Amino acid sequence: MAAGQRRHSFLEKRDYQVSRPNLQVALDHSDLPSAIADVVKVGAEVDIIEVGTILCLQAGEVAIQSMRALFPDKRVIADTKCADAGGTVAGNCRRAGADWMTVICCATLPTMIAAAKEVKEVQVELYGDWTFEQAQTWLEVGISQVIYHQSRDALFAGESWGEKDLEKVKRLIEMGFRVSVTGGLTIETLKLFSDLEVFTFIAGRGITEAKDLALAARAFQEEIKRIWE
Ligand code: 5RP
Repeated sequence: MAAGQRRHSFLEKRDYQVSRPNLQVALDHSDLPSAIADVVKVGAEVDIIEVGTILCLQAGEVAIQSMRALFPDKRVIADTKCADAGGTVAGNCRRAGADWMTVICCATLPTMIAAAKEVKEVQVELYGDWTFEQAQTWLEVGISQVIYHQSRDALFAGESWGEKDLEKVKRLIEMGFRVSVTGGLTIETLKLFSDLEVFTFIAGRGITEAKDLALAARAFQEEIKRIWE
């Protein structure tokens, strides 16, 4: 086994095996036509397509159905950040074509468990106050994905990625989570995580606000390969 593969053996789980972090594009558009126009340009360049929270709220079911129809072989995620009625929301997402969906970290365990029964996997979005003790309870009920987030509003308020974030991401990985990282990511930000086994980098505006979306996604992929392969 090559050194790169050994280093990232954490990624050999469930129905997929990758040797480096995935790249996920977040479609946080306020209308479906512009999301479709962008995903057509960039979908082939990324590993995972996310119907972002903003788009979920505007055009949820049809947006998920559209992504599934356009990219039948890609993993599609509904970023619902679901707080309640987990089973119902997850069932709706699954029927529309989503593989995975997100729940917010303050949702109750029963909400998360109900959601996890309906979709292939649930990811817990870490926002605001949460604890490692809580995170342990998610693992114990079989939820092994979290999304470590710098919120858009925190970034607007002047927050940036730093040591405090890296330490938390590291600890979550050591606990056994597959950890996705997101929030204002740029190509330059990726190297901050170079010592960590990040599962997926989720980029929204870093791709969708670029002049050439495909080129931007390719640049993310190249930097991921440069660092992790
Ligand atoms: C906001 C989100 C975004 O989809 C995610 O953070 C990516 O967006 P960006 O790269 O534009 O910050 O989940 O809640």
